[in-house]
Amino acid sequence: GTRIAVAVDGPAGSGKSSVSRAAARELGFDYQDTGAAYRALAWLALNRGIDLDREADILTLLPDFDYDIGVDPNHYFVRVGGTPVTREIRDPAVSAVVSRVARIPAVREHLTGLFRSRIADGTRPGIITEGRDITTIVAPDAAVRVLLTASAAARTARRAAELDVSSTEAVGEQLSARDAQDLAVVDFMNAAEGVTTLDSTDLDFDETVAALVALIRAHP
Ligand code: C5P
Repeated sequence: GTRIAVAVDGPAGSGKSSVSRAAARELGFDYQDTGAAYRALAWLALNRGIDLDREADILTLLPDFDYDIGVDPNHYFVRVGGTPVTREIRDPAVSAVVSRVARIPAVREHLTGLFRSRIADGTRPGIITEGRDITTIVAPDAAVRVLLTASAAARTARRAAELDVSSTEAVGEQLSARDAQDLAVVDFMNAAEGVTTLDSTDLDFDETVAALVALIRAHP
């Protein structure tokens, strides 16, 4: 149909979630947070006491992995099997292990299928999907593809403010450790061909949202 697909990738702390959600709100689009799905699965694995070194055990979770992530940017929530985990999936314990779940190819294939059906089906005029491999793997044919970047210092400062902690050093180390693990799976630091880079280092939140909205509106 005429539903516009927008793909946004970027590293941890780039602000892609909050920026994508605000842009979707402004445009009346759906918003799809793919990182939340990986986090929800990691949360479930921890909750069930699964040994994360055993891939086969993680895979047993997939057949009835029942997550529900609100695509209405005004009513964001995450549930797993009916349990609200919106805040729980941001827990540092989940952030610390999510990459180990996300690096399993069968996990990525399963979730990618779910992401694609969300992109295809919906009543809103468009959908912004954000993550690490949206511009390259999940939706390489998206009408608008954007890589949202920011300097490591800017990303660390934003994440520290978000978590309300004073030790930016520890936050910076966690961010770069997670990025390093994730980069072994997919490159989200360099824009693929046809992908527009939006560098938010010197932009504030509203300016970044406005820039993303402008890129989407410029689409013919
Ligand atoms: O975006 P967020 O930081 O919440 O993502 C959490 C984790 O989910 C990432 O660190 C990465 O391991 C995984 N992820 C992924 N592919 C995506 C989105 C997230 O592997 N498209």
